[in-house]
Amino acid sequence: SGIPVITLDGPSGSGKGTIAQLTAQALGWNILDSGALYRLTALSAERQGVDLADENAVAKVAETLDVRFEARTPGQPVSVILMGDDVTLEIRTETCGAMASRVAAYPLVRAALLQRQRDFQSAPGLVADGRDMGTVVFPDAPCKIFMTASAEVRARRRYDQLKQQGESVKISHLLNEIKERDERDMNRSNAPLRPADDAVVLDTSDFSVDEVLEKVLQIWSSRQ
Ligand code: C5P
Repeated sequence: SGIPVITLDGPSGSGKGTIAQLTAQALGWNILDSGALYRLTALSAERQGVDLADENAVAKVAETLDVRFEARTPGQPVSVILMGDDVTLEIRTETCGAMASRVAAYPLVRAALLQRQRDFQSAPGLVADGRDMGTVVFPDAPCKIFMTASAEVRARRRYDQLKQQGESVKISHLLNEIKERDERDMNRSNAPLRPADDAVVLDTSDFSVDEVLEKVLQIWSSRQ
């Protein structure tokens, strides 16, 4: 289809969630938070008493996921509704993130979520945030960006974010978790976290949110 997609991939804490939201807002485009789908699959499995070690059963949960993303205005933060229940905050916890990373390693789960992710591509454009947006889900996207940041910077950002949400955690604990999750996401055989061959790699360690947003918009303009 001719509907443009900007893919924003990278590890957790690289800032892609924030940047994806701001980019979508700046362009008036739709947004896909693909990580939320893995988080929702894990949460839904847990709520249904499904064993996270059972790939087939978890894939079934992914296939039948009853979720709505409610945006009041394009580009604004969305509410996430799972089976009629608002789980916007619950899916953001570290526990849920760790469970998501486990279920995301299953090929059957990834396959079950593939078409659902592609369905987000609608006019006037899509900003797709994840790990494999540029490599697997939208390989033909005209603009691919891979965001990175040092593990220390990412741990600090996660810390600030969680603190704002009233969760208190040790920064050293977050750093360990981030490293473990990176390891798992980069070394899985199915859709590992890596830049697409045609992606622009953006290290955001030393940049503010505004500076990164400006760079992303510049990269997009240069692709048109
Ligand atoms: O981006 P977020 O932290 O919400 O993603 C949670 C987990 O979901 C990641 O650690 C990763 O294992 C998985 N994920 C994935 N592919 C994506 C998005 C997220 O494997 N496109």
